[in-house]
Amino acid sequence: MKRLVIKGGKKLTGEVAVSGSKNAALPILAATILLNGESTISNIPNLLDVITILRVLKSLGIRAEYHAGGKVKIWNTGSVKHVAPYELVTKMRASFFVIGPILARKGLAKVPLPGGCAIGSRPVNIHIKGLEQLGASVRMEHGFVIVTANQLQGKRIYLDFPSVGATETIIMAATFAKGKTIIENVAREPEIIDLANFLNKAGAKVSGAGTEVIEVEGVESLHGIDYEIIPDRVEAGTLMIAAAITGGEVKVKKAIPKHVEALTRKLQDIGVSVKVDQDSILVKGNGKLKATDVKTLPYPGFPTDIQPQLSSLLAVSKGTSVVTETIFENRFMHVPELKRMGADIKIEGKSMIIHGVEKLSGAQVRVSDLRAGAALVLAGLAAEGETEIDDIDRHLIRGYENLVEKIQSLGGDIFAPTKKPALPNNS
Ligand code: UD1
Repeated sequence: MKRLVIKGGKKLTGEVAVSGSKNAALPILAATILLNGESTISNIPNLLDVITILRVLKSLGIRAEYHAGGKVKIWNTGSVKHVAPYELVTKMRASFFVIGPILARKGLAKVPLPGGCAIGSRPVNIHIKGLEQLGASVRMEHGFVIVTANQLQGKRIYLDFPSVGATETIIMAATFAKGKTIIENVAREPEIIDLANFLNKAGAKVSGAGTEVIEVEGVESLHGIDYEIIPDRVEAGTLMIAAAITGGEVKVKKAIPKHVEALTRKLQDIGVSVKVDQDSILVKGNGKLKATDVKTLPYPGFPTDIQPQLSSLLAVSKGTSVVTETIFENRFMHVPELKRMGADIKIEGKSMIIHGVEKLSGAQVRVSDLRAGAALVLAGLAAEGETEIDDIDRHLIRGYENLVEKIQSLGGDIFAPTKKPALPNNS
């Protein structure tokens, strides 16, 4: 799928189930490096990023199979290699997360520096500082990070920023460290709790996940398990905004309402009705949207991964909204494209000032990154006329399982045209 065509103006209605969380699946699959024997992990979304991490595991000598219905079977015999391949780690940043478990398992890991991406430079200094504090020696060689340690030692570690990835790296590295590791100022995202639950089920001793301090008591080994990944809160949020922006009524099922509480509050401020049940969220837009201000923050604050989608909604909400991005330095890449669709947005430093317009108009637009792609899909659903989104394949397929089909099932007019081959000219 190279491009998507959306005919805007259809109200989305019906029920839709959320897939498993990409951002929980990736570190948990990396953590299988630590386990001995056979594991089955379910609710894994069928995404390009998941395929990439499975390829990384295979390159390390772990047998990994993706089965229909979102089950991944893993067989880890314990003979794990220590080098992660350049072409996979540089393709997907999250593959760098294998550094912690490889080091814990082997006492040596060689992993390429992942490099930046469209939304920011995304350094890994906090991951590396944490590994050093556990007693690892770190050096850089030809673009690879090489970490070694005879025996990692439990320590008290304070993170300079509550980085999601660094928290995960340090938890995984500390699993086999001698003694107790106390990590302060950690990320509190639901994906961290899922990783801790996964490790604990396999025999680890991780406590405090979901709070600002996590403790890891080192253990000798971990065993294979069956585990089910949590639902994807970013996908749930994107579908909630799809209902709101089209003035439709959508029940988002198989979701954890607590994980999207910051968005729920903002949608209610904007004038959207949101009713939560135990594992579903009913969102009803009435077409009367009003401006609000939003600032992205680490969880439980408003997630940066839903900021672009919310800004599409605010682009058609009456009044002036200020959206401030504090997590990534370059996460306004969707703004010039929204402006091509008639949005009135001005960027000032870390903030964008959005003056809501009556209607967006369909246009040809281009995608820079995953969540910017989702924002443009939402804008297209609300716009008058036809929106054509180019370069969609690399981005949307990386992060959303069957998003196009899900929107179609709710009545959205969205499709991926296949190019007709040119007919030979017989004249
Ligand atoms: C994860 C999510 C991503 C989400 C982000 C923030 C996955 C696979 N990805 O990414 O979708 O947008 O959390 O919620 O889970 N930083 C440093 N040094 C480091 C690490 C991070 O300066 O060593 C900075 C980053 O550049 C960024 C900020 O900290 O500005 C947050 O990054 P982090 O929380 O680490 O995000 P990721 O784990 O990469």
